[in-house]
Amino acid sequence: MEGYQAPRGMRDIFPEELETWQEFEEQARSLLTRYGYQEIRTPLVEEKSLFERSVGQDTDIVMKEMYTFLDRKGRNLALRPEGTASVVRAYIQSQYYQRKKISRFWYEGPMFRYDRPQKGRYRQFYQLGVEILGGKDPYFDVEAISLLRELVVAAEVSDAQIHLNSLGCPACQQNYREILRTFLRSNEVRFCQDCQRRLQSNILRIFDCKNAQCAEVVRVSPPLIDKLCTSCLAHLQAVKEALDNLGVPVKIDQWLVRGLDYYTGPVFEAFVSQETNAIAAGGRYDTLVSSLGGPNLPAVGFAIGLDRLMTLKDSRTHRASVIRAFFLGGRAKSVGISLIDNLRRLGLAVEVDYEDRPLKTHLQIAHREKIQWCLIMGENEIAQQKFLLKNMETRHQYTIALNEAGQKIRELTCSETASVGK
Ligand code: HAM
Repeated sequence: MEGYQAPRGMRDIFPEELETWQEFEEQARSLLTRYGYQEIRTPLVEEKSLFERSVGQDTDIVMKEMYTFLDRKGRNLALRPEGTASVVRAYIQSQYYQRKKISRFWYEGPMFRYDRPQKGRYRQFYQLGVEILGGKDPYFDVEAISLLRELVVAAEVSDAQIHLNSLGCPACQQNYREILRTFLRSNEVRFCQDCQRRLQSNILRIFDCKNAQCAEVVRVSPPLIDKLCTSCLAHLQAVKEALDNLGVPVKIDQWLVRGLDYYTGPVFEAFVSQETNAIAAGGRYDTLVSSLGGPNLPAVGFAIGLDRLMTLKDSRTHRASVIRAFFLGGRAKSVGISLIDNLRRLGLAVEVDYEDRPLKTHLQIAHREKIQWCLIMGENEIAQQKFLLKNMETRHQYTIALNEAGQKIRELTCSETASVGK
């Protein structure tokens, strides 16, 4: 039998890579707290119809990419393809809007889309998302975009470009649908089968088509931004101006559309030069809360694709290295284990190889695994109430008294790790 593999488009993330993620997550958590955001955790599974009603029946996500299944009682469920719908569902279900006028949530976790796997595109991928519920003022959009930029900078990615457009309110979109329908009517035959259907069901989704011929037709159609109502245009201008004043560079991109139906105003995506796919995206969605059965409350948010952002981030600050401990003989092991317990209580990181191996083998293994510090204890050391600490890079070996263990280890590992790392 062949060995098991992770499902296609899904992957394992090992500790070495996760260090980079955790470094970013710590910074992100602190930044989000300083902006007044609170974490929310929602189920990975929701009713399938939640996404049909929010993301949209005619979107690729719902039509082609959702993992759906019936549970044992025949309920139609889906693995969440994104986080916004779940947050809004939770907000309405708990009547959270009665607790706070403006709610600021953030979340992080896996999302699932049966996408075609390729570089930076997975079937299980991770998002860090932010949703501001209850705010209409353009400054809420400005806050979302500035925060997105700060998070990207926290990941040491300095060249991200934010593209901004507006998809307009439902009235703008209705008006634009008519304009587009009239414009595209003469080109109907040039569209692929999917787009022929979109022309009837949801014409704005034509912009999602990857087919070159469809894209060519769409490119010459009038952009929505030129057809915005006065209030949507003023909102977009206010956002752009405030961002300019704050020194947050954004570029107006009249062809920026989103693959989800719920947007009703400014939308934005962040790109970097090395990646064709967006590293983050979001926008305003003022009708989603009411369309899912809640009150008429506006909202704006975004999500960062962590798999994409993390491949761009260098891990500069390495965590304090773990000390490898081993003992030579049974008595050394029983005394040594209580020493290790004490060291951990003092905040040092120590991992133990309990196997009985010759000293040379222990050192060879530590060398191969790039361990920097080894703590060694044998019968002689116990008799003298001492142990050895060996720096595997410089090969220096220190004899340390048991009663000075914590302080001495800290001194040595801090000073030498810093100088060796230089
Ligand atoms: P989205 O554009 O579908 O928006 O996804 C946001 C980000 O998730 C993308 O820019 C990308 O970085 C990442 N992403 C999407 N699909 C994949 C994939 N298959 N593999 C790897 N990364 C991926 C949303 O999901 C909205 N909920 C964002 C939002 C929040 N809008 C308002 N609030």
